[in-house]
Amino acid sequence: MRIGILTGGGDCPGLNAVIRAVVRRAERGFGDEVIGFRDGWLGVVEDDTTPLDVEACRGLLPRGGTVLGSSRLQPFGLDDGVERARSTIERHGLGGLVVVGGEGTLSCAHRLHAEGFPVVGVPKTIDNDIGGTEMTFGFETAVEIATEAIDRLHTTAESHDRVMVVEVMGRHVGHIAAWSGMAGGATLTLVPEEPFDIEEVCEGVRRRHDRGRYASVVVVAEGARPKPDTIPMPDEEVDRFGHVRLGGIGNLVAAEIESRTGFETRVTVLGHVQRGGTPTAFDRVLASRFGVAAVDAVHDGGFGMMTALVGGDIVLVPLADAVGDLKRLSAGVWEAARVFFA
Ligand code: F6P
Repeated sequence: MRIGILTGGGDCPGLNAVIRAVVRRAERGFGDEVIGFRDGWLGVVEDDTTPLDVEACRGLLPRGGTVLGSSRLQPFGLDDGVERARSTIERHGLGGLVVVGGEGTLSCAHRLHAEGFPVVGVPKTIDNDIGGTEMTFGFETAVEIATEAIDRLHTTAESHDRVMVVEVMGRHVGHIAAWSGMAGGATLTLVPEEPFDIEEVCEGVRRRHDRGRYASVVVVAEGARPKPDTIPMPDEEVDRFGHVRLGGIGNLVAAEIESRTGFETRVTVLGHVQRGGTPTAFDRVLASRFGVAAVDAVHDGGFGMMTALVGGDIVLVPLADAVGDLKRLSAGVWEAARVFFA
C-alpha cells in the first residue's frame, strides 16, 4: 500500500517522532511505501511530495519542528482546492492519508472525509485543546519549558522584590498556564476560561508582598482576557489565514499591576520558545504510539478516525469528537491550581 502523511498548523515538538513512527510501522510492519506532503495541506493541493523511508528518518526522533514543513492553508480556502487534493491522492494511488494537526487541520480532515478522502487524524498541539484525547504530544514539552522559565524568574524576582509577569501560549485554553503555574509555584494564573478582574489580581499581589519581601510571579495565558469593561483591549490583528495573532496581554497586565500597586513589574513573553526544540521523553513516546496506531488504522480502514490517548491506551475516536468542542481546563485541575494562589 502507499500511505501519505502531512503535518499542518503550528508546529510542535514530537511531529518528527510521528513521521518516523508512521514510516517505521508502514515499511517494516506492512511493506508499505510512504510519501510526505510538504507544508501541510498545501503539499496535497500542489502535489509537492518527498519520499520517506526508514533511512530518511534516521536522527528524527529527538528533533523539534517538522521536516515536512507546515502551513495553515486548507483546500476549502481555495476555489478548486478540494478537487486538486483529490487528484493528488488519486495520482499517487494512496490507500490512506495520515493527517497530523490541531483543531484547524483536523477539522479540514473531518470535512474531507465526508467528501470521501481516506484520512486518519493524529492530534498535535502544545495547547492540549483537542477533544477526544486526554493529551496531545507537545503539551508536556511546553509545560516543562514554561516551568523552567518560571523557576528562573523566581530567583531574579526575589533578588529585586519585583512582580514578574510571564505570558505563556494558550490560545483558547489555559492548560499550559495552569500546569506550569502550578508546577512553578506561581502567585496567580490567568486563563482564557475565566475572565480576570484586574483589581483582584492586584489585591493578590499586594497580599503576598505585604508579608515581607515576597516577590511574585503571575502566569498569563496569551488568550486570557479581562472581565468586560475593566481594561481597554487593543484591536486584534489577524494573519493571512484569518488566524488572530495573539500576544500582548502580559504587557497589559504588567502595566496595570505596576500602576495600581506601585510594585516594580517586568514581563517575559515565552512565545515560540515553548514550541521549539527537542520533545520530552513522554512526548516522544506518545507521538510514536500515535504514529504506529495511525498506520494500523489505515490498514483496518479506520478512516474518519483519530488516534487518542484514553486511560493510558491508544484508541481511535471519531474525528467529529475531536473537532466538535475544544477541550478546556478541567474543574479538577483549576480548583487545585487555585489553592496555591497568592
Ligand atoms: O495553536 C498552537 C499555538 O502555539 C497557540 O498557542 C498560539 O497562539 C499559536 O499557535 C501561534 O501561532 P503562530 O505560530 O502562527 O504565531
